[in-house]
Amino acid sequence: MADTQRTFSIIKPDAVAKGATGEILKRIEESGLRIIALKRVQLSAQQAEGFYAVHKARPFYSELVQFMTSGPVVMAVLEGENAIARWRELMGPTNSNEAPAGTIRGDLGTDIEQNAVHGSDAPETARVEIAYFFNATEIQAAVEALP
Ligand code: CMP
Repeated sequence: MADTQRTFSIIKPDAVAKGATGEILKRIEESGLRIIALKRVQLSAQQAEGFYAVHKARPFYSELVQFMTSGPVVMAVLEGENAIARWRELMGPTNSNEAPAGTIRGDLGTDIEQNAVHGSDAPETARVEIAYFFNATEIQAAVEALP
């Protein structure tokens, strides 16, 4: 049976600032993933701290929060079969310096921090991350393409 999943994505401030929002959304849609919620926002420090709370003890935490609040981000909920793994494949590895050409981070990221995009790593994380930024009325389940 097809495993329809939802995942959470962020186009980070570096990618938004360089005008790559359209290119990234285009890659998402061309991959067959459906964008079922979308918004562009300036995160507050409190929102970024909460979102990355799992990394609180890491040495890069405060710099990460600073980066994520340095300009607007574009957040989207993506839906499709195996959406979590497919979005991670499109993004490429976390460190943009190690990401192959053809992946979003390889083509549009700069380093391990300024890596253009975020994606959930597992179904439970996806649920938590989606609920952190979107309420139910902002998410419209995709209308499947008619035959
Ligand atoms: P993301 O997928 O959003 O999840 C956590 C983020 O922390 C990651 O992408 C990077 O932007 C950042 N990050 C992870 N490791 C490091 C690191 N060693 N130094 C700086 N930033 C990091």
